[in-house]
Amino acid sequence: MFDLKGYLASKQENINSYLDKILQESDISCRIVTAMRYSLLAGGKRIRPVLCMAAVDSVGGVGENFLTEACAIEMIHTYSLIHDDLPAMDNDDLRRGRQTCHKAFDEATAILAGDALLTLAFQVLSSKSFLSNNKENEKNLNKSLQVINIIASASGYKGMIEGQMRDIASEGTNLDIDELKNLHYMKTGALIDASIIAGATMGGGNTEEIEKLHNYSKNIGLAFQVADDILNIEGDPVIMGKAAGTDETRKKVTYPSLIGIEKSKKLAMDLVNKGLIAIESFDKRSDPLRAIANYIIERKK
Ligand code: IPE
Ligand code: IPE
Ligand code: MG
Ligand code: MG
Repeated sequence: MFDLKGYLASKQENINSYLDKILQESDISCRIVTAMRYSLLAGGKRIRPVLCMAAVDSVGGVGENFLTEACAIEMIHTYSLIHDDLPAMDNDDLRRGRQTCHKAFDEATAILAGDALLTLAFQVLSSKSFLSNNKENEKNLNKSLQVINIIASASGYKGMIEGQMRDIASEGTNLDIDELKNLHYMKTGALIDASIIAGATMGGGNTEEIEKLHNYSKNIGLAFQVADDILNIEGDPVIMGKAAGTDETRKKVTYPSLIGIEKSKKLAMDLVNKGLIAIESFDKRSDPLRAIANYIIERKK
């Protein structure tokens, strides 16, 4: 049986030390870098970079060769969490088991730390493409640009940002299930999808493989946010490292608020199964993707 625990631990270790290394190259004594490190190296699950590398492997590439891209995605994710926690957004005090960035520092520093992580992600991505810019590597350069485009589009106003906009605008309103589904696809699904599609592209996946992985990611991305909604009701704040019960307080529209908790659990399971079916023709190199799909709804944090 595939050992997901061991797999995640080893990937997380590589991701954490690479992120640490990237930020060590900056002046670590300055306030902004201290804040960036504080949130980035606080021990998140690293699901997006792991998915990215697992997607490379699933199409026959070597995931570990793409740590730079995987870590850039994690920087974008961490920036989104820092901003998500701000008083103007979800106004949360706890994240990844410690005070949120604006609590530990101040709002201005948290806004800037988020901006800096977002910018650094693209700096790191483009530096790697620039380095590979020689005649033999023209194909790789094209691929790198494609990957930058995939990640930028998913993070921007047609993806995660629009999802966040809709999430904030929907507080205290009535969305129907399709509107909520689209909101969740955008705020959470888009970056998860980009992680997987970027990985499959870098790994040399063909159109058919990428299509199947897109189908996988659409389903597990939505399941991920449904699970997050459920954890906000049933989860243990100590294990999660963030508060519970906040969606109800802020009158967020969530899957449990619309269809109830049991139906939400069933839906999350159905989504994961659909994701698994999408990649059933893949060989055992996709076992990590299969195990992660199940983990997404079984997780306690
Ligand atoms: C939390 O993401 C925000 C959502 C999009 C649901 P994660 O659950 O991946 O958070 P970390 O990175 O492990 O802290
Ligand atoms: C966060 O969604 C989504 C992004 C940061 C893009 P939530 O607000 O639902 O996530 P948590 O529960 O605070 O982690
Ligand atoms: Mg939010
Ligand atoms: Mg939030």
